[in-house]
Amino acid sequence: MNSYHIEKPFALIIFGASGDLAKLKLFPALYSMAEQKHLPKEYHIVGYARTKIEKENFQKEFSDSIKNHFKHATKSHLNETILKELTSHVSYVSGQYDKLDDFKKLRSHLSKITNNKEITTLAYFSVPPQVFQNIIGNLGETKRHENEDIRLILEKPFGEDTESARELFHFVARYFKEENIYLLDHYLGKAAVQSLLHLRHSNRLINMMMKGPEVANIQITAFEKLGVTSRAGYFDQVGTIKDMVQSHLLQILALITMSIPITENAVGLHREKYSILSALKFIESRKNIVLGQYESYNKEKDIPKNSKTETFAAMRLFIDRESWYKTPIYIRTGKKLDEKHTYVVVELKKFAFQPKDEEPNRLIFELQPNERINIRLVGGEISTSGTVSSTTESMPEHSMLLLDVIRKRRLHFLSFEEIIATWQITDKILAFIEKAKLKPEKYPDFSPGPTGQDQLTTIDDFKWFDIPEKK
Ligand code: BG6
Repeated sequence: MNSYHIEKPFALIIFGASGDLAKLKLFPALYSMAEQKHLPKEYHIVGYARTKIEKENFQKEFSDSIKNHFKHATKSHLNETILKELTSHVSYVSGQYDKLDDFKKLRSHLSKITNNKEITTLAYFSVPPQVFQNIIGNLGETKRHENEDIRLILEKPFGEDTESARELFHFVARYFKEENIYLLDHYLGKAAVQSLLHLRHSNRLINMMMKGPEVANIQITAFEKLGVTSRAGYFDQVGTIKDMVQSHLLQILALITMSIPITENAVGLHREKYSILSALKFIESRKNIVLGQYESYNKEKDIPKNSKTETFAAMRLFIDRESWYKTPIYIRTGKKLDEKHTYVVVELKKFAFQPKDEEPNRLIFELQPNERINIRLVGGEISTSGTVSSTTESMPEHSMLLLDVIRKRRLHFLSFEEIIATWQITDKILAFIEKAKLKPEKYPDFSPGPTGQDQLTTIDDFKWFDIPEKK
């Protein structure tokens, strides 16, 4: 029996079932779970959205989006029998998010399909954050009893700043316990990101190299080739800092720099990540941040001609902790760049007597599209590579995370405190951008981004490390 095998029945309600996230990520994730035989005998997938459609039509949308995914996003073969079996578990309820009566209707639907049995309910919020509270309130009001096993899966963005995130968490707490809330950042579902934790926990050699006093600087790069795609309306309101840095990149930063928790459990991990995230420091200066916007951004559909939203951001941060004192951390991320590549470089200190132009030793963690770790020890020219990922099972991020929710594993989810800490530093950075009236520098589509990014590392006499394969 595989390690993910689930026996207990569950009902998964997908709010926002007609949206992009559901079609592009969740439905294919469910297929993967079925294909790898991770689903129990009894399970129900219930789509909920405002659109009024019949069950059969929704089932068709469900299986079409999986077929589509297979046509475009993967090279593997789709098994029609598995897809058909999976689709037979799918039903649909149409309703508003703010109408209690519609949630009562949903509740009777659940009772009907489960023959009135009380089973675990997973509620996936695949909706814009503006309706989170409506759904939470109505789900809370229609609970069978105080301790009913309902698990809420909320995906980022959690609010739009510290205040709104706090408000959201206070609101949730009125109806549900924190242990029933799974705050999802899909980067933590990536096998390579998960392996960082495992690697630091079990590889003493690597861990010793990653101690603050040994490290000269850390660089986190997340480049994307895609532009805003069909999410112009959302993206233009938020920009790259809120969209990518606030959660995905700060989470990677925390996993790389935190003290390793003694036990690999969620409470310990959340505590260590929080300790780093709450100590992040941005020194207010134009020298410490660079914004960019790809040339064709203003010509994209639904983007205002004069939009100044950043599609690229690079920044220089510090961690206010004794062990990381004065170690710069550079982060850069952007859209419509020359490649899709996410990697972390930990550059080790040199001896004072080493020649200035000699290459430093580096630990390189490539997270996507390749998953590998590379240790370059110069001097003796020792260079070794291995794979970062320790899992043999390869599944999409959302499948890994859904399975974790089903198994009540909170390790790869976020805590309220961490999110508040990441919003606090994000708010500070954004307030500075506004105060200093920073404008994004234009960069050519499919280029390596604005040239200004180099100014960040040169302050400390370092250079961005581009993976050689890139050039
Ligand atoms: C999402 C952002 O959270 O992450 C998108 O909203 C971004 O703008 C995406 O494109 C990147 O995810 P991945 O897994 O492709 O690196």
